[in-house]
Amino acid sequence: MSDQRVAIVTGAASGIGLAISKELMEDGWRVVVADVNEQAAQDVCLDHEFLSPALVDVTDLASVMKMVDETVARFARLDLMVNNAGITRISRFEDFKTEDWSAVMSVDLNGVFFGMQAAGKHMLEAGHGAIVNIASIAAERGVPGRAAYAAAKAAVVSLTRTAAVEWAPRGVRVNAIGPGYVMTQLIEKLVKAGEVDVEEITAAIPAGRFARPREIASAVRFLASQDASYTTGQVLYVDGGFMANYGISSKPKQD
Ligand code: NAI
Repeated sequence: MSDQRVAIVTGAASGIGLAISKELMEDGWRVVVADVNEQAAQDVCLDHEFLSPALVDVTDLASVMKMVDETVARFARLDLMVNNAGITRISRFEDFKTEDWSAVMSVDLNGVFFGMQAAGKHMLEAGHGAIVNIASIAAERGVPGRAAYAAAKAAVVSLTRTAAVEWAPRGVRVNAIGPGYVMTQLIEKLVKAGEVDVEEITAAIPAGRFARPREIASAVRFLASQDASYTTGQVLYVDGGFMANYGISSKPKQD
């Protein structure tokens, strides 16, 4: 068995997943860049010896199982699974369409559950491994228009805790990251559609800016590492202070 640690990152062809893949690669990992957009996954792996593209549709358990099994067959180990693929749909609660609800639940919740099951099976056999699920601040806060997204992300936090307590005695750690706002194609589309007001959101973030994808990736690198060997069942909010904020922007007077 090679000494090189092996990770799978879903939704890795763009945005946060891509940043996570590069961060891990630079930390010495071999990374399977798994995405439903096969061409984009292939493109980001060009010229990177330790990035390997894989086609996966996380809404389909058979597709996830196949991708994970092929990874283990090829590299003879699986140390980390990052369940990152996600989508969103925005609508007023009372008008939320069933097909939008199902689409979001299929990717953001079923996709995470399938990824955890498929990777967990191998990790439990090996007696070792880490899973990091990408949740959101929407798991803990009411965000207008995000009925399905927020429900899915809250359930991801719940799955994280359940698997963490089941699998801790068997050597598998499970944690989640709750990113604040990150300017990726997911948010860019919402800005264009007038669904997200960048100025208004920035004013509510104590750090005064959106996160860089790299800042989410470095938190994943920590949770995947031996430095986090006693950390399991946790949600790490990487949000520039958003979750800690009382909501009032007034600052103490300086002397
Ligand atoms: P993105 O839209 O840039 O990337 C999502 C990736 O997932 C794309 O490459 C897409 O092809 C892939 N994908 C979509 N459906 C898939 C499927 N069925 N199977 C496999 N891959 C699929 O989005 P972004 O912003 O990078 O988001 C990544 C994760 O971070 C998501 O779970 C999102 O909910 C979460 N997040 C994002 C925040 C943000 O502000 N951008 C804030 C909090 C959480």
